[in-house]
Amino acid sequence: MSASASPASARAGLFDLTGKVAVITGASRGIGRAIAERMAEHGARVVVSSRKLDACEAVVAGIRDRGGDAMAMACHIGRKEDLAALVQATNARWGAIDILVCNAAVNPYYGPATGMSDEAYDRIMNSNVRSNFWLTNLVAPQMAARKDGAIIIISSIGGYQGSDRLGVYALSKAADMQLARNLAVEWGRQNVRANCIAPGLIKTDFARQLWETPALLAKTVAHTPLGRIGEPDEIAAAAILLAGPGGRFMTGQTIAIDGGRLAGFSRGDVE
Ligand SMILES: NC(=O)c1ccc[n+]([C@@H]2O[C@H](COP(=O)([O-])OP(=O)(O)OC[C@H]3O[C@@H](n4cnc5c(N)ncnc54)[C@H](OP(=O)(O)O)[C@@H]3O)[C@@H](O)[C@H]2O)c1
Repeated sequence: MSASASPASARAGLFDLTGKVAVITGASRGIGRAIAERMAEHGARVVVSSRKLDACEAVVAGIRDRGGDAMAMACHIGRKEDLAALVQATNARWGAIDILVCNAAVNPYYGPATGMSDEAYDRIMNSNVRSNFWLTNLVAPQMAARKDGAIIIISSIGGYQGSDRLGVYALSKAADMQLARNLAVEWGRQNVRANCIAPGLIKTDFARQLWETPALLAKTVAHTPLGRIGEPDEIAAAAILLAGPGGRFMTGQTIAIDGGRLAGFSRGDVE
């Protein structure tokens, strides 16, 4: 930042996404939607994608009503041809992609590993890891060609911890952290950054069962130093940092946003 910049313009500059093209998977709801809406407010042209076009179009309409620029695109992350079409449609409309947010993920199983079907295992690993591998391979070269780009993968604090109920989901989220490290090393010289965000429990449909079940919510809150669960905007804020000028020297890392859950908890408050 230049010494002559005023404090106000310096602050805007660090988080300024003006003119950037951002593609976000799973952006019709929850964390992805918050990332799309907040990035648009910071000046990005955002591609809102999920399996359901009408749901994406509703998000796009809201962004445009507030003066932002957005387009909707149906894309099932498990299908390679859908991912290729997402990239092609974005390039055709706005040119090269500056920001890629691999946000969509699934978890069709909650229980011990021994009870898990091969189909559920494949669905989790294919949706949460292979799709991100495919999509980042499609997008990183065009970022490299312009010597600029930010890839953000939404992982989970589950990727840092063993689990007796969400084990394969946690495995997939740990793999996402490694994918970001691999991308950081492979593309760093071309100024392409790749990082993960690892949310704790966030109030979205994805985790509804966990926060709508009083006993599970109480347990999570008791183990969280800040004493509450998170909101989608609290993840979007970090995505803006990683995508903008303020994040330009950060790559290969994972930012945990979990109310302090990974930091530990007071045994005085919890049995
Ligand atoms: N919420 C939490 O507590 C929490 C905690 C840690 C990590 N995360 C991670 O945060 C990310 C977003 O989760 P969320 O909580 O925001 O979930 P959400 O509210 O359920 O939203 C999921 C989004 O992904 C889309 N989606 C689902 N399957 C898809 C597929 N196969 N292809 C394309 N899009 C698909 C959904 O739209 P359609 O139905 O229209 O496809 C929707 O837009 C995920 O990676 C999740 O693992 C969440």
